[in-house]
Amino acid sequence: MFRAPHEDPLAAKDTSHSPASHVAIIMDGNGRWAKGRGKPRLYGHKMGARRVREVVEACPDHGVRYLTLYAFSTENWKRAPSEVAGLMALFRQFIRSETAELVAQGVRVRFIGDRGPLNPKLRRMMAGLEEATACNGALNLTVALNYGARDELSRAALRLAQDVAAGRVSADAVGADSLRPYLDTADLPDPDLVIRTSGESRVSNFLLWQSAYSEFEFTPVYWPDFGRAELGRILARFGSRERRFGAVLS
Ligand code: FPP
Repeated sequence: MFRAPHEDPLAAKDTSHSPASHVAIIMDGNGRWAKGRGKPRLYGHKMGARRVREVVEACPDHGVRYLTLYAFSTENWKRAPSEVAGLMALFRQFIRSETAELVAQGVRVRFIGDRGPLNPKLRRMMAGLEEATACNGALNLTVALNYGARDELSRAALRLAQDVAAGRVSADAVGADSLRPYLDTADLPDPDLVIRTSGESRVSNFLLWQSAYSEFEFTPVYWPDFGRAELGRILARFGSRERRFGAVLS
C-alpha cells in the first residue's frame, strides 16, 4: 500500500536496538507501599515525589530526552477529599522546592491535562514553572495533572470539529493523524516506552492515542521503591526489543 513519506512510521523512527527517547511512566503503588509500612497513604505519595527527582536526574544519563509522568488522573478526584487535598499540596510543594534545581539541570517542564478544575494558585505555579524552564532542553519533563486520555481526546475532537465547521479544516482531509495537533501532547513525540509500576497491567486512561506503537513494561516494584537501578534495567531490556511499527522487518 502506498503511504506518503510523512505517514510512514518506519521512515520516522529508529526501528530496533535504539534507546528510548520518550519514556512515559504510570507511577503506581504509593498507597500499598505506605500501607505495608503502617503509614498513611500520603506518606507514600511524599516518598513517591522523591523518586520523581531521582528519575528526572537519571534520564539524561540513559539518553532519555522526554519523560512523561502520570501524577493525577481525571478519575483521581474520586479519592477521599483528604488524599486529594494532600496530593494537591504535594504538587505545590514540589513546584516550590524543585524549580531552582530543574532550571539548573536544564529540564523543561510542561503540564498536560485539563487545568480548569485545578486551584487557581496551583495553576499559576504550574504556568510559572513552565515559563521558568521554557528555554531548557536537556530533558523535557511532562507532568500529566488532571489528565485522562478520553477527556483529552474529546477536547481535541471538539476543537477539530469546530475548525471543520468554521471551514478552517476540510472534512475530506480528516485522517488518522488529524487529531495530533489538537492533543495536549501536540509538541511532543509519541512515547517509545510506557512503564507502569506496582504490578498492575493496565493503561488506566493514559496516553491512549499516543501509545499506539509504544512498548510496555510492567514492573512489580512500587513507585516509592522505583529508582535509577530499576529504570536502568528496564531501559536495557527496551534496547534489545525489535520495534516493527506494524511492518515486517528482514
Ligand atoms: C498512584 O498510586 C499514584 C498517584 C495517584 C499519585 C502519583 C503522585 C506522586 C508520585 C507524587 C508526586 C508527583 C509529582 C509529579 C510531584 P496509588 O495511590 O494509586 O497506589 P495504590 O494503588 O497502591 O493505592
